[in-house]
Amino acid sequence: MRLIFLFVLISSCFGFEDVSVVQYLRENGFNNLTTAIDRIGITYLLETTGPYTIFAPTNEAFMRAGIYSFDIFTSEQLKALTQYTIVQEFVLVPNVDSLIVKNTMLNQTITVEPYQQTLLVNNISQVHTTGNNIIVNNGVIQPTDTVLTPHFWPTESRPIYNMHQLILLNDDKYSDLALTIVLADMQNVFQTGEYTLFAPTDDAFFKHLGSLPDPASPDSKSFYQELLKNHLVPGERLASQLENGDILYTLRNTQLVVTKTTGVIQIDTVNVIDTDLLATNGVIHSVDDLLIPNLP
Ligand SMILES: *[C@@H]1O[C@H](CO)[C@@H](O)[C@H](O)[C@H]1NC(C)=O
Ligand SMILES: *[C@@H]1O[C@H](CO)[C@@H](O)[C@H](O)[C@H]1NC(C)=O
Ligand SMILES: *[C@@H]1O[C@H](CO)[C@@H](O)[C@H](O)[C@H]1NC(C)=O
Repeated sequence: MRLIFLFVLISSCFGFEDVSVVQYLRENGFNNLTTAIDRIGITYLLETTGPYTIFAPTNEAFMRAGIYSFDIFTSEQLKALTQYTIVQEFVLVPNVDSLIVKNTMLNQTITVEPYQQTLLVNNISQVHTTGNNIIVNNGVIQPTDTVLTPHFWPTESRPIYNMHQLILLNDDKYSDLALTIVLADMQNVFQTGEYTLFAPTDDAFFKHLGSLPDPASPDSKSFYQELLKNHLVPGERLASQLENGDILYTLRNTQLVVTKTTGVIQIDTVNVIDTDLLATNGVIHSVDDLLIPNLP
């Protein structure tokens, strides 16, 4: 009864569509998300019970996260990724006036806060500013531009993303690196093989603002290729496997010297600021400056 009352109340304020959350998603271009929902076998649940709030990543969100196929996930992982978009109650934009914590169907929490007339989830994923609060007969759809990653993956800790995907997913600190990979046309390198990547953060790039080649200039592509190769070492070396005095050979075949004192790691002249982000094709350590290659 209370639910019906609530529906009447909110449907008088917002648009109301008499379909289930899944039907709405299916009929409105969220086919990546509905593929995931179908695959993990909760379609029937989402058609018959409720209420649900779906923080629904668009197809573009999956693409931006580098997820072109769900075959990269185990069924447990896909289930976690999908369940993490679902809250089993109404979360409506105008009703959130401060930061709140909601449990998801995965039994891992998300934070939701008001942000620029809409909502921000986990301080990263923004609900669309228009076309949000889509009330349907068993819940509400809040379309988002970002695929949220659960705090931890159930049952296994095997990495599921390749380096390129991890860089795209962590675009709060690797947006310049992501752009450099595009300029160098080296997406393939970061998706395959096995490497240790000393990943320069946006702050590292910022230190060289104005001194890097203009992307529009003819030889910028080869410069950015050499720059990236200088940060890639074949083979996976976790922080614990880097020893003081080690010499690493980059993809350019140049040497990098490891200095390790009381847990602080330097690679040549740059500092490692965080370590051991595991990818399916190696490991990423962040560095605070660029390893600029000596070019002829
Ligand atoms: C998302 O949908 C597009 C087509 O609309 C498809 O090409 C792509 O493979 C799908 N992605 C996933 C992860 O299923
Ligand atoms: C949900 O997670 C909490 C800890 O975060 C745990 O105590 C509880 O048992 C979990 N519930 C289910 C149903 O798994
Ligand atoms: C949210 O993100 C912004 C920038 O991305 C950051 O400055 C801020 O500290 C973050 N807040 C929390 C609570 O993590």
